[in-house]
Parts: sequence; C-alpha cells; structure tokens
Amino acid sequence: KIIPVILSGGVGSRLWPLSREHFPKQCLPLTDAQYSLLQQTANRTSALDVSAPIIVCNEDHRFLIAQQLQEIGLKNASIVLEPNGRNTAPAIALAALEAQCKQQDDVLLLVLPADHVIRDINAFELAIEKAVELAKGNALVTFGIEPTRPETGYGYIRGGEDFSVIEFVEKPDVNTAQTYLESGDYLWNSGMFLFNAKTYLKELATHRADISNAVSLAYEQRTQDMDFIRVDAESFSNCPSESIDYAVMESTLNAKVVPYAGDWSDIGAWDALYDYADKDEDNNVLLGDVMSEGSSNCFIRSETRLVAAVGVSNLVIVETADAILVMDKENAQNVKKIVKRIQAEG
Ligand code: GDD
Ligand code: MG
Repeated sequence: KIIPVILSGGVGSRLWPLSREHFPKQCLPLTDAQYSLLQQTANRTSALDVSAPIIVCNEDHRFLIAQQLQEIGLKNASIVLEPNGRNTAPAIALAALEAQCKQQDDVLLLVLPADHVIRDINAFELAIEKAVELAKGNALVTFGIEPTRPETGYGYIRGGEDFSVIEFVEKPDVNTAQTYLESGDYLWNSGMFLFNAKTYLKELATHRADISNAVSLAYEQRTQDMDFIRVDAESFSNCPSESIDYAVMESTLNAKVVPYAGDWSDIGAWDALYDYADKDEDNNVLLGDVMSEGSSNCFIRSETRLVAAVGVSNLVIVETADAILVMDKENAQNVKKIVKRIQAEG
C-alpha cells in the first residue's frame, strides 16, 4: 500500500497577518469554513485506498497538528518532528526512512504539500494510478499541471514520450518562464510526487550525499514520545537546506511526469486565495463582518471588527485583532518583506 507523506513545514509568511509563526497557514481554515488546509489534505488521503500518512512538520507545531488530525478522526498517523526546517529534500528523506521502518518491503510514497487544494478527487486518483505503474519501475514521478501564467515560483517540466522528463527547471526567471509558457512544451511541477522510498533515498545519495548522510544520522538517533518521532537536533541542524526540486528533480535521470488535468491550487499568497474563492457580483471576496460600497475586485477578510470599503478596487484587506494588512493585490508576494521586518525590528 502507498504511504502518503504530508509536508507541513512551511510557515506561510505571505499569508500574514492571519498566518503566524505559531499558527501557520496550513492549520488555518482558509478555503473552507470547517477544515484547515492540512485537514483537507489528510481527508483527501483518507478518500484514497492508502495507508495512514506520515506527517513531517516543525517541532513547534506538534500539538496543533496532532489536535487537528484528532479533530478529523485520523488515527495511526506518524508525526516526524524537525527541530528546524531544512526544506523538502531532507523532510522527504526522513519520511522515506520512517516508511521503510514501518513497512519492511518496498514502499511507495505519495508526497503531498499540506497547503494545496484539490477538489476533483477522481481525476487525482486516475493520475495516481498511472504514477504507481511508473514508480514501480523505479521512476520519480511528478504530477504536471498545464501552466496558465509565467509564474516564477514554480518548477517547469518539459515532458517527452512515454511520460519521460526532458528537462526540469525549478523557479526560472520571468523571461524564461514566459518562453516556456509560449512554447506550450512545459508543464508546472505540482509539488506532489510519487516514488518508491528506496528509489528516492538512492537518488538523493547520488546527487546530494551531504544531505543524505546528515538525514540518516539524524534519523538513526531519533527518539519517540507518544506519537511523535523526534530526530536528533544536532545532526539535523548540520543538514544543508535544499528543496527536492533543486536537490534531486533537476538532476535525476529517472524523473517521469504524469499530466494532471483536475483542479489544483497552491494557496501561497492572498492573490491565490482571491483567485480560488467564489466572487460576488462586483468580483469581491468578502469574508466575515465586511461592508462594501462601490468597491470591486477586492479580497477583504475581517476577524474581529467591521471592515467597510468604499470605492476601492484591487485591494487585499485582512483585519485581525493585532494587525491589519492593506495591500494592492498585485503586490501579494511582498507581504514576506513585512514579516521579515517585523522579525528583525521586533
Ligand atoms: N516538513 C517540512 N519541512 N515541510 C516543508 C519544509 C521543511 O523544511 N519546507 C517546505 N515544506 C513544505 C511546505 O509547507 C509546502 O507544503 C511544501 O513543503 C512545498 O514547499 P514550498 O516552500 O511551498 O515550495 P514552493 O511552493 O516554493 O515550490 C514547490 O511547489 C511548487 C508548486 O506549489 C516546488 O516543488 C515547485 O517546483 C512547485 O512548482
Ligand atoms: Mg508552495
């Protein structure tokens, strides 16, 4: 059976002021009134015929995440704790080691970021079926999405015959992304992967022995308390920080891509959330206690007070108890800079 791996290490600083260091975006009910992104991801795995998931997250979020899993009645999940994030290549390697420890023989991993929304579970299931076939032949399979804009925050994949990958380019500059888009030959990397745990570990050891060695050492000296698997802090802090995309996918010769045509959204920033949500007749998304007079194309969310917007357009306004964000929707990526300043200036 496949073991899902849910990557839940990000903080989501572009979704400040709702997303905070101690309450990251994947734990917020951002696209659904009831369930957080993490809970929706976990529920998605329950709908598939797979084993209980392995969740890899930061140690600081352990109780929050355990509680959220409990709320949806998910049992038997393993929660692997990182003392500090080292990006996705090490996180997935920890999950691969844990999966091998749980299931002795060959085990397939379905790697899922905790902050994606997919509503069309049937299309997803079909793509997984094809991916399983390829992964059994030792491929590292990614799911490719038809690109719609020259997004620079994504990976681009040029596919060839029989699901082969001719080229994998992570986060190209905007001109390159534009050429890729116009060529029609590229797909976006969805950030979801399917492969044999052994294949991934082998490829990581080939291309980034430094990461592979540091992770092995950290995992060997793990301790377990309750449901939490805690890796050795010192060895893990010596691990270089790198994403699977740069560490493995750009270099491996074993990559395959399965096109995925169902709906998919990476809820990375406020503009993505605006695009995803249902709009009113003025193209506004108004959440909570919000009044609009003659405003259009706005995303406005209130947590604690009445927010009134008169005659404005293309704004993101997010009100919380201790901070208010007012931003041009085009600037959604720059929220990160404010978060950095808050951290630096205290
Ligand atoms: N456990 C753990 N530890 N999880 C992590 C860590 C970490 O150190 N760093 C990131 N993650 C989680 C994030 O929470 C997210 O769910 C997922 O891994 C992907 O990380 P991002 O930081 O969001 O990556 P990205 O969006 O820049 O790029 C990736 O996703 C794109 C699609 O959304 C790449 O795979 C791109 O190629 C891809 O197009
Ligand atoms: Mg992302």
